[in-house]
Amino acid sequence: ISLAAVVPAAGVGSRMGLNHPKQYLKIGEKTILEHTLIKLSKVEHINHIYVAVSEDDGYFDGLDLTELNTTRVSGGKERADSVLNALKSMQAHPPEWVLVHDAARPLVDIKDIEKLIVSCLGTGEGGILASKVKDTIKKGDMHIEETVPRDQLWQALTPQLFPYQALLSALDSALNEGAMITDEASAMERVGQPVALVSGRSDNIKITTPEDHALACFLMAQQQK
Ligand code: CTP
Ligand code: MG
Repeated sequence: ISLAAVVPAAGVGSRMGLNHPKQYLKIGEKTILEHTLIKLSKVEHINHIYVAVSEDDGYFDGLDLTELNTTRVSGGKERADSVLNALKSMQAHPPEWVLVHDAARPLVDIKDIEKLIVSCLGTGEGGILASKVKDTIKKGDMHIEETVPRDQLWQALTPQLFPYQALLSALDSALNEGAMITDEASAMERVGQPVALVSGRSDNIKITTPEDHALACFLMAQQQK
């Protein structure tokens, strides 16, 4: 199969509050971005990884990514722009499928990635890793308006996997029409394409704040035992 991965890694990490982007923060010996790329490289179906990096990023070229099949491409203003830029950079040699995975999710379980791939390739439809909401969810502003039943609520994770052409056109139209897009699935939903929910581990956290980083250091050490 022809399946390429895109790793959006062009964010500044403002909520982490460092003077460098959070993807270059270390967990043990390696940066978050390296951990993520190593995980994806271990997935047999993934032929190549396109990493969307900010043009003024002075850290990426200093990483040792020999052994890994990666290409640096330019990121964009928002995450969706970064992903779209990466997709456009493959237009000369388009893959059949594209798997998008946040640089900030180095804890993803390789078995979950494989489960997503097998599920989507089996049906021919796109899908995402997601985990069932565990908390009681309240809607409201200063006071509770209602308690939202959680039995049908999922937390969207990455990777998210789609047929390349379908994702390219869905993202392109979403951005052209100024739609709010925080993941690939929302772009596909807008154009009425089915997106499967594939249950994945909830410890596949997106490292966003210093607390997340502390937790990620603990979880990574557990994984590597
Ligand atoms: N990302 C990207 N291009 C952007 C913004 C974000 O490629 N213009 C990437 C980030 O590098 C990250 C992923 O998208 O791997 C998820 O975004 P998020 O967790 O929000 O990261 P940041 O935008 O860097 O963090 P913050 O929102 O706190 O500034
Ligand atoms: Mg962000």
